[in-house]
Amino acid sequence: MRGSFLSRRTVQRLRQLAIATVGSVKIKLVLCCCIAFTVIALLSRASGFTGWTSPGVGLGRLSAPRKGYAIVMNTWKRYDLLKQSISHYSSCPGLESIHIVWSEPNPPSDSLKKFLDHIVQSNSGIAQQVELKFDVNKEDSLNNRFKEIKDLKADAVFSIDDDVIFPCSSVEFAFSVWQSAPDTMVGFVPRIHWVDQSKVSSDYYVYGGWWSVWWTGTYSMVLSKAAFFHKKYFSLYTNEMSASVREYVTNNRNCEDIAMSFLVANASGAPPIWVKGNIFEIGSTGISSMGGHSERRTQCVNRFVAEFGRMPLVSTSVKAVDGRNVWFW
Ligand SMILES: *[C@@H]1O[C@H](CO)[C@@H](O)[C@H](O)[C@H]1NC(C)=O
Repeated sequence: MRGSFLSRRTVQRLRQLAIATVGSVKIKLVLCCCIAFTVIALLSRASGFTGWTSPGVGLGRLSAPRKGYAIVMNTWKRYDLLKQSISHYSSCPGLESIHIVWSEPNPPSDSLKKFLDHIVQSNSGIAQQVELKFDVNKEDSLNNRFKEIKDLKADAVFSIDDDVIFPCSSVEFAFSVWQSAPDTMVGFVPRIHWVDQSKVSSDYYVYGGWWSVWWTGTYSMVLSKAAFFHKKYFSLYTNEMSASVREYVTNNRNCEDIAMSFLVANASGAPPIWVKGNIFEIGSTGISSMGGHSERRTQCVNRFVAEFGRMPLVSTSVKAVDGRNVWFW
């Protein structure tokens, strides 16, 4: 029986070895376990390269055809990064359309448009042609990235900066997590808030960056630089949310992502969901996402608490992980 699994010779040799040393059944068992362990470890490693988890066998292909998602990408005068990330994401399955939020004084050049159109056309499959659109804004404001998009077919929006790249499999997985919780934000970059103990009043809050999340294992926001949310939040942000929040964002050139986290938490009453994913920062600004500038962010949090009349953010320590990439339970 075992001869079909290992070669008979190997088994014999193992047997002799075992007999020669102690000859107990225990040793044989331990050896078998070691071999099985090694085989599993090798296989799970190899799967990373051979594409067991690659887009071809992604979640979408296992189930019936379904609605996809739209990418809304914020960009600012970094055409190389824009080309790089559009070229990457346009090959991801499930993607229906790409909307580039353009806030520069000059409209996108024809050559850039042509170049990106060509990339998207050649990358997206025949079955599903990805649509590419520029949303050109007159005013330069960080609120532009949350403007309502007319004729958006997909309900799910993947909001992403032009300088962060996630493998398609991570994006697809985050999308499937979002589908099971479509009212909340599902993203890759978690942040936290907590009550400042040093202050007398109990409603002064502190914003915590990556290290705080790492230390506590808890978070209450996911940043819109890489997150899925329902398109209905665009119209809530632009039309329903108090105009003074949007003004604050425009004037301070910061915190539009915190404002969106407040808005979604206030409407859903639920925490966001942090999804594990491999992030590749292709820009040179890796430092801001690792911490720093947290005083300005703390100011934003307290300002928005005043605007919303309460602290809507909900903390959680749940983290969504793709079960196919985890073999050790
Ligand atoms: C927060 O949610 C409440 C209840 O759903 C709603 O009435 C209110 O308008 C929301 N506030 C903001 C600023 O969106």
